[in-house]
Amino acid sequence: MTDTRPVAFPQDRTCPYQPPTGYDPLRADRPLARVSLYDGRPAWLVTGHALARELLADGRLSTDRTHPDFPTTTARLAGVRNRSIALLGVDDPVHHAQRRMMVPRFTLRRATELRPRIQEIVDERIDAMTGAGTSADLVTAFALPVPSTVICALLGVAYEDHDFFEGQSRRLLRGPTTADVLDARARLDAYLDELITRKLGEKEPGDGVLDELVHGRLRTGAMSRAEVVSFATILLIAGHETTANMISLGTFTLLQNPGRLAELKADPSLLPGAVEELMRMLSIADNLMRRATEDIQVGESVIRAGDGVLFAPSVINRDEDVYPEPDALDWHRPARHHVAFGFGIHQCLGQNLARAELEIALSTLFTRLPGLRLAVPAEEIPCKPGDTIQGMLELPVTW
Ligand code: HEM
Repeated sequence: MTDTRPVAFPQDRTCPYQPPTGYDPLRADRPLARVSLYDGRPAWLVTGHALARELLADGRLSTDRTHPDFPTTTARLAGVRNRSIALLGVDDPVHHAQRRMMVPRFTLRRATELRPRIQEIVDERIDAMTGAGTSADLVTAFALPVPSTVICALLGVAYEDHDFFEGQSRRLLRGPTTADVLDARARLDAYLDELITRKLGEKEPGDGVLDELVHGRLRTGAMSRAEVVSFATILLIAGHETTANMISLGTFTLLQNPGRLAELKADPSLLPGAVEELMRMLSIADNLMRRATEDIQVGESVIRAGDGVLFAPSVINRDEDVYPEPDALDWHRPARHHVAFGFGIHQCLGQNLARAELEIALSTLFTRLPGLRLAVPAEEIPCKPGDTIQGMLELPVTW
């Protein structure tokens, strides 16, 4: 007899760069499947590439996390859905106004201008690693500090505070209990509030995004303090956690696929395509969430108003109709249409920056440390649980 129970979602990965084996039935069930969330609540899971792009661009799906019907993937996050998040947690027209304000800071041109500075930051980190010995935990020595330093410079936050905000965002995303998550949020709020007060007192404002918000919006009354804190929180967290995970998991994946690594080293012009293919393959933001605000007909099925609609990019980005042999890394395939940065109005604001950081971090790492290898067997390296952004908890390497 076949098992007709809905698949539990999300699940932990078995191999850090492949979807959980528990998702295998979903890969056969495109483009839309039924899944069961941690509390038994049923939800829709979008698994087909074309449907994912259609629905991620559909105004009838809301990202407002404060709505009681909004789906939740863990008990600990269910208790913190009482406050709106800037950009990612608001629908149009509010979203449009917020996004328009931020876009000029995150254009391709801006990211290109930042490349020399990113290169310096990457080189400084590798100098520090090689100066300290011949082995390190790549997560703490490289993968986290590179994007943290970049986003601090961009926002106008002191990098000296990185231990504090990295620690709080770790608790915010993966804290063991709701109380822990709420405490992390309160501490981050207090820190940012104090930073805003300090910036308000500055006679000569800096040129960070936060300086602009404080002096151009808060001072003029166009924005409240709580709104500025909300913007700062999402930019600070989204700006370092995600890219850090891509650097650590990308390095691990390249080390586990020596043929592809050698190909990349032999022909650096493959780099931009390789970064897209790694984005597709790793799909580190692997559970995007929405709530239907109206009935939506999809083929024979009807997504009812109030239903939770989730997206699993690791499955969507392996749709055989778009990506032949989807589990294989192939630098030559056109991977750019992946949904690893999302799609539609909430498509990643920082994607140009993330691409620049990934290209520079991965290429410099393997050029400057040609003997880079894992310091322990791959199976012993812990990776992050399935209900959060995917990545390595640590990555012991030697060179
Ligand atoms: C490789 C690294 C990154 C990945 C994989 C990633 C992934 C994503 C995804 C999938 C979304 C859409 C979420 C959804 O639709 O529910 C998103 C949105 C967002 N990302 Fe990224 N991101 C990365 C780097 C960054 C960076 C460096 C920033 C810098 C500030 C950033 C800022 C944001 C913001 C603000 C949003 C919300 C945009 C909106 O709602 O308009 N991300 N990201």
